[in-house]
Amino acid sequence: MSRAAGLTVWHIPLAADAPEERSLSLLDEDERRRAERFVRDRDRRRFVAAHAALRQILAHLTGRPPASLRIVTPANGKPQLAEVPLRFNLSHSGDHAVLATSWNCEVGIDIEVAAPGSDLDGMADIVMSEPERAVFSTVPAQCKPAAFLRLWMRKEALLKAAGHGLARDPRTLTVGLDPGEAREVAMDGTVWHLRDIVPAPDLRGSVCADKPPGPIRFRIGPWPSFLSGSPVEAA
Ligand SMILES: CC(C)(COP(=O)(O)OP(=O)(O)OC[C@H]1O[C@@H](n2cnc3c(N)ncnc32)[C@H](O)[C@@H]1OP(=O)(O)O)[C@@H](O)C(=O)NCCC(=O)NCCS
Repeated sequence: MSRAAGLTVWHIPLAADAPEERSLSLLDEDERRRAERFVRDRDRRRFVAAHAALRQILAHLTGRPPASLRIVTPANGKPQLAEVPLRFNLSHSGDHAVLATSWNCEVGIDIEVAAPGSDLDGMADIVMSEPERAVFSTVPAQCKPAAFLRLWMRKEALLKAAGHGLARDPRTLTVGLDPGEAREVAMDGTVWHLRDIVPAPDLRGSVCADKPPGPIRFRIGPWPSFLSGSPVEAA
């Protein structure tokens, strides 16, 4: 079992036509029930592929069989492993999923592949703090989509790290929208460490930890042979 300190980000490509049978056999009953509820075939396949990969990676790190891992969801909604102190957080968007794992930090992660909607100033009122809105109003129109996404992924990563998800009003937090990879944000008596990341070519995201994560290790495809490969270190 590998117990490297710090934070690892795993990139999982989600082929919409991936065969499902073996993947389904790795999931627990709750995951299979959730998979059945998807209306669109493509969305179900992506969910199944993401959760099968999640279990394979957690199995790789804990030395336990994938299907035997008990993933529980406490009242705040953030899934966690029962019995093993390995922290993880999953995010998926389009054909991609990413997983953040750590043995010593609480972690949250977010990726977004879709461009934000067209009414960015209206959305800014819903998700940005007052200082962020003031800066956003000065951003040139052509730079607004990227600035908005950067801020949004940071907020989601932070809210997911703490387990709040969107139950907490994102306007109560200031994470900034200017480029710059690392930043620290205090929330509820904890200093959270945010990093902008590029977990795969052309894929942007944000990851958050409750301790300085040090250099982030990236594990990038081809899936799943990279389980045995060497991680790519990033500052
Ligand atoms: C968690 C949440 C932020 C996910 O946002 P998203 O951008 O759609 O999804 P992502 O792909 O980045 O993350 C989804 C994953 O986060 C994890 N997750 C779910 N709830 C979480 C929470 N409270 N904290 C951290 N992670 C969470 C799950 O692993 C989930 O994957 P799964 O659905 O395949 O199991 C959002 O759905 C949420 O806040 N939900 C719960 C709060 C809520 O419903 N509040 C209602 C009152 S406003």
